[in-house]
Amino acid sequence: MIRLLYCSQAKPDFNKDTLDEILLTSRKNNSEAGITGVLVHGGGMFMQVLEGPEQAVLRTYVKILDDKRHTDSRIIHITPVKERLFSNWTMGVVEAGPLTFEHVAKLRANRLESVHADAFSQVMREFNAMLIKT
Ligand SMILES: Cc1cc2nc3c(=O)[nH]c(=O)nc-3n(C[C@H](O)[C@H](O)[C@H](O)COP(=O)(O)O)c2cc1C
Repeated sequence: MIRLLYCSQAKPDFNKDTLDEILLTSRKNNSEAGITGVLVHGGGMFMQVLEGPEQAVLRTYVKILDDKRHTDSRIIHITPVKERLFSNWTMGVVEAGPLTFEHVAKLRANRLESVHADAFSQVMREFNAMLIKT
C-alpha cells in the first residue's frame, strides 16, 4: 500500500458545483479501487492524500493529472505505508483557508527529494487534527 500527497492549483472558474462533481466521482471510483483519502480545498488550491494499493493509487493519480479542472499538480510526497490515515473516508473533503496551505506551500517549494519525512508527518498530523475538529 502507498500514500501519495500532491498539491495543485484550481482553475479560476472552479466552483462548488465542480467540487461536488469531483467528490461524487471520487467516492464511487475510490470505493471500488480500495482508495481512501482526503481532498483539501482552499485559497485556489487543492491538496489531496490518496492511499491504497500502489497500482490503484498511481492509476488514479494519472487520471487526476490529466484533469482540466486544475493545473500544476505536483507530488509532494509518496511513500509505502502499512496503515491508512484516512480509513473512514473514500474521499473526505475539507474547506480550508489559505493559512492551512502555508505548510503545504513550503513543502511544495522544496518538493520531492528534499522533503523531510518529519515535515511531512507534521503536515499530516495537522490535517488529522483539523479533520477531527470538522
Ligand atoms: C482535485 C481533483 C481531485 C480528484 N480526485 C479524484 C479521486 O480521488 N478519485 C477519482 O476517481 N477521481 C478524482 N478526480 C477526478 C479525476 O480527475 C477524473 O475526472 C475521474 O477519475 C474520471 O472518472 P471516470 O474514469 O469514472 O470517468 C479528481 C479531480 C480533481 C480535479
